[in-house]
Amino acid sequence: MAFLFIILVLVNLSVIIYIISLFSKSPFISVPKKFLPEIVKALDLKEASVLYDLGSGDGRVLFAAAKAWPKAKFVGIDKNFAPIVVSKVKWLLSGMPANISFIRQDFFKTDFSEATHIFTYLFDGPMAELYPIMQKQLRSGTRIVSCNFRLPIPHQSEVVLGNLEDKAAKKLYLYKVA
Ligand SMILES: C[S@@+](CC[C@H](N)C(=O)[O-])C[C@H]1O[C@@H](n2cnc3c(N)ncnc32)[C@H](O)[C@@H]1O
Repeated sequence: MAFLFIILVLVNLSVIIYIISLFSKSPFISVPKKFLPEIVKALDLKEASVLYDLGSGDGRVLFAAAKAWPKAKFVGIDKNFAPIVVSKVKWLLSGMPANISFIRQDFFKTDFSEATHIFTYLFDGPMAELYPIMQKQLRSGTRIVSCNFRLPIPHQSEVVLGNLEDKAAKKLYLYKVA
């Protein structure tokens, strides 16, 4: 009972913080669930992959990818309280898989050099700021998949999610670290 009460308080707190986050420059908005299979496909993971979602939100990309690649490692980084609480509750309810973790941290201050794959769904500002950090940290061959927002370099290819005439459509931009 006490556990349920704590969950309820945390969820309510998360909703309030979520609403506040909508007015910030880094809102907690998730990719639509219907696009998750295409995102996982575009990531092109392998058994030994290490996927970091920089700004992981509720962790949905990581959970979907972990379902397809249960032996790979998944790390979600988010600086905001609400998304971390939501993703940790989801992690608890999914049986606490050892290969998925969520860290409350600013990704500009995170060591993500072990990543073989990076996923982002941010804005142009953070993407431009992240690029020099990625250049320093990431190994050659690391795959970067960004939803809607581009790094300040040419992308290798792109994938359209949904019908481009539809407002809800998205684009994935694919990069490989040289
Ligand atoms: C648009 S949401 C994307 C969520 C998730 N990746 C998805 O696709 O469903 C962006 C997330 O990035 C987080 N974020 C923004 N700037 C950040 C930073 N500097 N460090 C860590 N997280 C950040 C926000 O809290 C938010 O949850």
